[in-house]
Amino acid sequence: MARTKLIAGNWKMNQTVAEATGLIAALRAQAAAMEGKDVAVCPPFTTLAAVVAAVAGTPIRVGAQNVHWADSGAYTGEVSAAMLREIPVTYVIIGHSERRQYFGETDKTVNQRLLAALKAGLTPIVCVGELLQQREANQTEAVVTTQIRDSLAGLSAAQLAATVIAYEPVWAIGTGKTASPEQAQAVHALLRALLRQSHGAVADSVRLLYGGSMKPNNAAQLLSQPDIDGGLIGGASLDVEQFMGIIKSA
Ligand code: 13P
Repeated sequence: MARTKLIAGNWKMNQTVAEATGLIAALRAQAAAMEGKDVAVCPPFTTLAAVVAAVAGTPIRVGAQNVHWADSGAYTGEVSAAMLREIPVTYVIIGHSERRQYFGETDKTVNQRLLAALKAGLTPIVCVGELLQQREANQTEAVVTTQIRDSLAGLSAAQLAATVIAYEPVWAIGTGKTASPEQAQAVHALLRALLRQSHGAVADSVRLLYGGSMKPNNAAQLLSQPDIDGGLIGGASLDVEQFMGIIKSA
């Protein structure tokens, strides 16, 4: 089944409202090049509302970078799915390796956040990926298999169909060192096989993004792999030329 390519920019902890305005204006001017693809940007919480307003009338959709699992309550510093829906955002990144590395995110909490996002009608982008030492120890397969199994625990086939998964090898994030198209495709094929095992044919409609130093000069090769359905872009999504270059090569 045909899967529309999704190019999503993860702005991480970058872009104030004032800075984002210019970036979005420049992207708006090139909206015609986005036809036939899904494009999203994921700004920090404080910038979401302004960016949602700024992209009105364009094909650009907006995502958050995290969501809490509870509806409301005593969770200082967290944001609920209902709050994100109210803005309204379309996507939410869950379980990014930086959250796993610096903020104690585990497959268990990823799973809780994922279920809350789905319940609220958000489209989650769940991140998995191995560390450098795990790849060097030939543990990539085992690591992503566990991450997929535990992060997606309890998901129905319909919920999986509404979920996007991003494979982001941690050693490729922000390092300028990208996975080769063959390395990335091998993991993506494994992910799809795992999803087929657990959830059946719906696996063929799930979009699997690659993330980790995707740039205009390597995007076309990565995005032409049979199981790579888009990109989750960090650094290059903050540069209009580079982000558009990746979109055009999708
Ligand atoms: P870079 O594109 O900067 O390597 O970041 C990738 C990433 O972490 C996207 O979520």
